Amino acid sequence: MFISFEGIDGCGKSTQARLLADALRAEGRAVVLTREPGGSPGAEEIRRLLVEGAGERWSAETECLLFTAARRDHLERTIRPALAAGQTVVTDRFADSTRVYQGAARGDLRALVDRMHDLAIGVEPDLTFVIDLDPATALGRGIARGGAEDRFESLGLDFQRRLAQGFRALAQEFPARVRLIDGSGVADDVAARIRAAL
Ligand code: TMP
Repeated sequence: MFISFEGIDGCGKSTQARLLADALRAEGRAVVLTREPGGSPGAEEIRRLLVEGAGERWSAETECLLFTAARRDHLERTIRPALAAGQTVVTDRFADSTRVYQGAARGDLRALVDRMHDLAIGVEPDLTFVIDLDPATALGRGIARGGAEDRFESLGLDFQRRLAQGFRALAQEFPARVRLIDGSGVADDVAARIRAAL
């Protein structure tokens, strides 16, 4: 299976992706845990261009192109080979992040995002977990984490609120694939909700 985790910055999805990968491995499955932007050497180089620096460093259109380029490399070098070898792929973000961050939150670019996705990517995960958490709580966690990768967090609480709405709308748009998971409480409780949904 190809499983993605999505949500706003600081929602806990990276922790949950890791916990699910660990649990599946403990059951004897071969699991590739990966992330976007990144997940292959070339895409990790593109990641640095995207997540560091000033909030307005790129236009939303340029961002779409860079995220899509990184995703294409990730797909070619990491995801497709793993699925072909019968492994389970768990990714921390995939195309839904571009739909929401660039397509909904930073200008009405959804049509452009969809066209680029059809041209260059063309696949969806089998299952997507959106970790739904109050934007103020999530933003506090993200800022507390610190580090240089704060370009999107630096855009503020209103931006995170728009993102949270965008992710919820996604669950309605793709009900067969996207599951909204309550991200409140301790990590083990959230992991149990994910296992029940899986
Ligand atoms: P991360 O913090 O989950 O590693 O993701 C890095 C940042 O990149 C995060 O703020 C979300 C943003 N992002 C997009 O804006 N569009 C995308 O397509 C992806 C994959 C991430």
